[in-house]
Amino acid sequence: MKLRLRIFRYDPATGKEGYDTFEVECSEGMTFLSALQRIKEEDPTLSFRQFCRAGICGTCAILIDGFPRLACREQLFPYALLRGEVTLEPLGGFPKVKDLAVDHESVPERMRELGIWVEGCREEVRIAPEVNKDLERAADCILCNACQAHCPQTLEEDYAGPLLFAKLYRLLRDPRDCRGEERLTLALREGHLYHCLSCDKCNSTCPQEVRPADLIRELMVYIKEDGTPER
Ligand code: SF4
Ligand code: SF4
Ligand code: FES
Repeated sequence: MKLRLRIFRYDPATGKEGYDTFEVECSEGMTFLSALQRIKEEDPTLSFRQFCRAGICGTCAILIDGFPRLACREQLFPYALLRGEVTLEPLGGFPKVKDLAVDHESVPERMRELGIWVEGCREEVRIAPEVNKDLERAADCILCNACQAHCPQTLEEDYAGPLLFAKLYRLLRDPRDCRGEERLTLALREGHLYHCLSCDKCNSTCPQEVRPADLIRELMVYIKEDGTPER
């Protein structure tokens, strides 16, 4: 069975943009990443990101018919059964590098600004099993940026976005971390937490079931009526 892939092309040297269409013979189990690799044998100038090829590193997220997906997990066969052509584009909201590759550097930069790492101050910490379950869920994030790309509010320059809030939530729940109140203040003042529309688009795109919108709603529970943080 054949599937046509309409692939966004961008050449940073000339600024030229457009779409090229390639036809691939697909078989059961074949992923979009395998298809891209096959096309690259034919056209070595095609650029896209990949690393683990196992849904672990989060590098290969692209838009497949407008929806963010991990290219190394998404299978071609169901698309081929339903339609003859699929459009592949880079994740929106990030500067384009070339073809399907974008520059994600703004996310680690924001993480550095918001101090998203554990700052321990206790010698011995016991983590209750129910807390550990919450931590594991938030820690399952593979930084694929699918939620950031699909969130309508990240178009606002200052809105931290679902990925960053999922990370802030994890630290707030982590008993090893000692900056709880400060982190909530950061989420509110620097991250503009209340600009979240609770539209759940980030939940629907996350390949890891992190469900960032649910974590954002849980973060809001920690905010007092007067808008100040409470732990
Ligand atoms: S629920 Fe909030 S963070 Fe998630 S996509 Fe909607 S606006 Fe963005
Ligand atoms: S929360 Fe989910 S969609 Fe967002 S970056 Fe992490 S793994 Fe990807
Ligand atoms: S290549 Fe690592 S998640 Fe797809």
